[in-house]
Amino acid sequence: MSTHDASAQYIHQFIPGVAGSPTLLLLHGTGGDETDLLGLGHALDSDAALLSPRGTVLEQGMPRFFRRLAAGVFDRADLIRRTHELADFVADAAARYGFDPRRVIAVGFSNGANIAASMLLLRPETLAAAALFRPMVPLTPETPPDLAHLPVFIGSGRQDPIVPVDEAEQLAALLRHAGAAVTMHWETGGHGLTQGDLDAARKWMAETRLAISAAVAR
Ligand code: MLT
Repeated sequence: MSTHDASAQYIHQFIPGVAGSPTLLLLHGTGGDETDLLGLGHALDSDAALLSPRGTVLEQGMPRFFRRLAAGVFDRADLIRRTHELADFVADAAARYGFDPRRVIAVGFSNGANIAASMLLLRPETLAAAALFRPMVPLTPETPPDLAHLPVFIGSGRQDPIVPVDEAEQLAALLRHAGAAVTMHWETGGHGLTQGDLDAARKWMAETRLAISAAVAR
């Protein structure tokens, strides 16, 4: 395990995985840090490498991955810039730590899910798949990307006070329109993660890592 802040200005942790396994790009929610989702990543795939950056924006001392103007109202220019920075960080980290850039799966919660969704829309080549817990529509790109069957898990809550049901459905529709293979999972609860999310995402992860291995072998 190592913590660095040198190459791409992200404080982060990288934990190597078993050879041939994916690398999970762990993206925390507002106020979290690079340690928050290590347990979730390990629970989703205990063989996977874990790459966990800390968001570089501070909102009243709380780390985030991009600026917002108000709750749920994003600074689009900042989001676009930070999405590219994060994608560049992942590419640099693959070279630096020697993991396969074709096997990176984003696992994001809330603000982290939003920048992961933005990366799918703006820098899709960075990711082989994404698990998005409680995401919103981060932006609507001028030209939709070609996500060509890229597996996406969306875990949403029917009583989420931050993300309306319609918005989660809009994100699923946007990603499906771009060609992604979206698995939509609904919990009855709110914004917090539940055991139900974990069980559903674990099943999706097991199927997804087989599909990625088959695609890489082709
Ligand atoms: C965001 O700002 O990305 C969303 O409102 C989720 C959050 O509260 O972080």
